[in-house]
This record gives sequence, C-alpha cells and structure tokens, in this order.
Amino acid sequence: MAGSSRSVAVFGAGYIGLVTAACFAQLGHRVTVRDIQPERIRLLRAGDVPIYEPGLGDMLAQNKERLVYTLDAAEAVAEAEVAYICVDTPPTASGDADLSRVWAVIDALRGASHLAAVVVKSTVPVGTGSRVRAALDEAGLERVGYASNPEFTAEGRAVEDFLRPDRIVIGTADEATAALLTDLHAGIDGPVQRMDVASAEMVKLASNALLATKITFINESATVCEATGADVTRVADAVGLDHRLGRHFLNAGLGYGGSCFPKDSRALRAMASNTGYSFQLLNAVIEVNDLQPRRAVQRLKAELGTLNQRRIALLGMTFKPGTDDMREAPSTVLASRLLAEGATLTCWDPVARPADAAPWNAAERHPTVAEAVTHADAAVLVTEWPELREVDWEAVRDLMRTPLLFDGRNTLDPAALARVGFICMSVGRATARPRRASGSE
Ligand code: UDX
Repeated sequence: MAGSSRSVAVFGAGYIGLVTAACFAQLGHRVTVRDIQPERIRLLRAGDVPIYEPGLGDMLAQNKERLVYTLDAAEAVAEAEVAYICVDTPPTASGDADLSRVWAVIDALRGASHLAAVVVKSTVPVGTGSRVRAALDEAGLERVGYASNPEFTAEGRAVEDFLRPDRIVIGTADEATAALLTDLHAGIDGPVQRMDVASAEMVKLASNALLATKITFINESATVCEATGADVTRVADAVGLDHRLGRHFLNAGLGYGGSCFPKDSRALRAMASNTGYSFQLLNAVIEVNDLQPRRAVQRLKAELGTLNQRRIALLGMTFKPGTDDMREAPSTVLASRLLAEGATLTCWDPVARPADAAPWNAAERHPTVAEAVTHADAAVLVTEWPELREVDWEAVRDLMRTPLLFDGRNTLDPAALARVGFICMSVGRATARPRRASGSE
C-alpha cells in the first residue's frame, strides 16, 4: 500500500461498515469495528459474516489480524486516529432521516480528544455536518477534524466499488482532515473530489436520485413502448450509445428497490419540502416507481381474466440479484397485491432469507424453480438471478397449468419462449405468443 498504516474505528457492522472495515484492513490499516448488537459481534469474532456480500467474507478472513470486533465504544477508539460513522439512518414518519444512531455514536466518542478526525459515511440530510460539528464541540472534541465521506457502493459489488470507485468524495472544512483521509484511501484507484461538507452530503443524495430518475425514465418509456409497439430494450440500447447518456440504468423492469434509491429519493424530496420547495421531478419518479409492480399485476390480471384462486409463482424475491437484501424489494409489493387479488403464491429465491412476516408467510417457498412453478397459472420473473437464464423452460412449461411467464426484468428471449409454447409478457415489449395462439397484445 502507498499510504501509512493507520488505526481506524468503524461504528456500525452493517453493509457499509463491514465493507469499509474490510477494505481499509485490506489497504493495511488496523480496524476496530464496533456494533451494539452482541449477536453480530459474536458472529464476526467467530469468523462468520452476518450479511451476504460477495468477496466480503474472504476479505475479512484474509485481513483478520488487522480486524477487531467489539461492543465497547471506548475500546474501539482507544488506539484510533479516525472514527468512521457507518450506522443506519432510517426515515422517520415525516420522511426526515432518523439520526439518533449518529448522535449515540458521537455521545460515545465523548472524551476521545486524541482522535484526528470523525467521519460520517452514513447517508444524512444536507446540513447534518454542521450539527455534527456542533455536537463534537459540545462533547469536548473541538480539536478533532470532521469530514463527510459518502459511500457509493452497490450491494453485490460493494467491495469492488469501494476499491475501484468512480470517485472518492471528501467533504471537510479543514486541510489536515482532507490530507488524512486522502492518505487513508491511498492505494485505491479513483479520483478524490474535495469539497465542503454540505456539498459532499448532497452528492450522495443527488447521485442516487438521478440514477432512480434514469430508471424511472426508461420505465415510463416502456409503458409508451407497450402502447405503441416499440421495443424498450432496442430503444435503450440505441439511446444508451449516446455517450452523453450511457446505457447504465436504462433497464426497464418492475421498478427500483433496495436500501438506497427509495430511501434517498424520498429523503431528498422531504428535505426539499422542508425548505418549502416541492421537488416535482422526484415526486413523479417516486410515484411512477410505486406504480410499476402494480401495473404488472394489472396486466397479469387482464391476461388471466382474474387472479382470484390463480396460483402464481414468483421467481426471485430480493430487490436485485447478488444480494440477500429484501429491503423495499418490488417482490413484496407484487406478493401483497397478488394476495389481495385472491391469488395463491409460491416463490423461489436462491439466497433470500426465509421471511415469516406478511406477505411472505402466506407464500409457499420452494427450493427449486421446478417445484415453485408446478401447477402454476403464471410465473413472474421478479429478480434476474443468473440461475433463471439456465432454466429448461420447455420442461417448466409442462409443469405449469398455464404456460404464462411475465418476465419482469426483460432478461429472457420472448421469441424463444413463445417457440416452446409460452405466452411471454415483459416490460415495454410486445407480448410473445405461441404460433397457434391467435392475436397478440
Ligand atoms: C445503489 C447505488 O447504485 C449505489 O451507488 C448506492 O450507494 C446505493 O444504492 P444498490 O441499491 O445496491 O446501489 O443497487 P443498484 O444495483 O444500484 O440497483 C438499485 C435498484 O434499481 C435495483 O432494484 C435494480 O433492480 C434497479 N435497477 C437498476 C433497474 O430497475 N434498472 C436498471 O437499469 C438498474
């Protein structure tokens, strides 16, 4: 590594905290991870990773001599130069971010005046930095530097994103803290963007809201394609070749989910509303995304005549492949809507943890796609797990009561499915039907 080996305390052993800890340890730093959940710390000490994130377990194991896990905040900062705050900031009833966990960490830092810097990685409203600065001063940490260093890691590729980022955003008012953080990231191949704290906080919210807008734009375009006979995939491929636009995040589907886009777009909207400004574009983005799984249910209903007592198989539950995360997964809205229409649900997912809460407690979970689709009136491809591209759909057809597949991620070839007898619905493309069936959408 290029920089000096430093001692870092990471508060929060969730997705972001653990990835940050693993990657800093990989860069040669000594890292102490502190969490308030005893079970989490016990698992980590035993060499288990409490979350599913490719490459994370291996990286924690490879660097275990530089990683310590503790429940004790004082132990976490005893040797540390830098304290990273990576706790969650869930939305409150008003749509503001609940910063109570951030304040709890700052309270626990009281007296740690040997620290060189405190850094917030958690996503927070713009303006939080000045409140954190005041809280640090009040806790006797006036001489400790402060920075915002937002994360831009996507689940499923978080380690890769951390070590090969498009940019490292460092928002701070003081030069020494900026130099320290730049050094801490030495060995990472990515441009450092140095700015004030408020701008750094805004970069995170603006990036996620713009990505959510891009997805929503293609989803709305898909609806127009369905009505006019255009194929949204062809459109996205050609639009995306314009270097000013790019192809990324132009995949139409059942809408975005996950821990960031829904929360951050609502947070930015709430923040704007609190200043008396209505962020109209974001209002539309959020509304369209909410409609996306509902439209799919409506289209299925139109195709089947009714959903009442129909057996529907949901293939994939997580909000995207490569993660076990179910937060704000479109599958949950789909499942609830289908149940509300009187459907019987079966589901399959290779990693989603069994859920005992509604709506999943009303769905039959199966270990294989074949079992999930047996006697189904329709199957919905909800999450584009690679396994679903390997499925022998001809064999699946014979297991289903009706050969109807709704490809909610436009991941399969509708013409090929129609050739083996499926009616294949998808998003923003004409419904493909077997030759002998009459009519098309
Ligand atoms: C995202 C951002 O990518 C990351 O930078 C940020 O730090 C956190 O939020 P993540 O939520 O892990 O990461 O997932 P991402 O891969 O970005 O996908 C988000 C959602 O958008 C998924 O539900 C995905 O299915 C959906 N999506 C993505 C689309 O519907 N179409 C696309 O073209 C791309």
